[in-house]
Amino acid sequence: MIIAANLKTNLTRAETLEYLKSLESCLSKSSITQEVLVFPATSSIVAHNGKIIVGAQNAHGAIKGAFTGEIGSMHLDEFGIKTILIGHSERRHVLGESQEELVKKFDFYKNLGFKIVYCVGEPLEVRESGFDNMMEYISKQYEGIDTNYENLIIAYEPVWAIGTGLTPTNEDIASLHKELKKKSASALLYGGSVKVSNAKEVLSIDAVDGILVGGAALNAQDFCEMCKIAQEIEKN
Ligand code: PGA
Repeated sequence: MIIAANLKTNLTRAETLEYLKSLESCLSKSSITQEVLVFPATSSIVAHNGKIIVGAQNAHGAIKGAFTGEIGSMHLDEFGIKTILIGHSERRHVLGESQEELVKKFDFYKNLGFKIVYCVGEPLEVRESGFDNMMEYISKQYEGIDTNYENLIIAYEPVWAIGTGLTPTNEDIASLHKELKKKSASALLYGGSVKVSNAKEVLSIDAVDGILVGGAALNAQDFCEMCKIAQEIEKN
């Protein structure tokens, strides 16, 4: 399974180093063989050797250039980063990235062979407008994306479940994931208010290949607990 931590705009570089150290130690004590990804804030990106794969929450689709406030692939290369999150709902809805921009970014990092965690998900009003509308909305987020890309991981994250403590029912996650698996055979993560107390039920759902965790991953011990839960489930 794939267990990913999106640290968002939290943890300084010093705190991130501490986080990675305690997470590595917990993972090795627990003999975790799951794929563990951590996405620190951009200025906290570090070159990391170990079990954890460190990825970028964002970067511009260019090696370098006149893109004030952005970083390019050369800045990721400096730290050996080969994994990137694209299409997170906060980038789509808070920072206004369009599907067209995301596709360009996707293609750029795909051509560099990056592992891409590509996020999709619907806002509450779309969900409430019915299943067909919701599927149509989510389908648009697949437009232009190479769903056969070998290093692609998709994360389904309903916007209304992110950071709110709300989660869809297990049945809703199961049926959505079943639909989304028809669009791409890539690993499919669920994200949105996953925490230690619900990780087991979420990870046990068919067609859930892992989780993308925000708030509850900020504590390295809690995040490690979720990795242990995934390890247990995979054994059974
Ligand atoms: P959350 O965030 O776990 O805090 O809901 C998930 C995400 O944004 O990836």
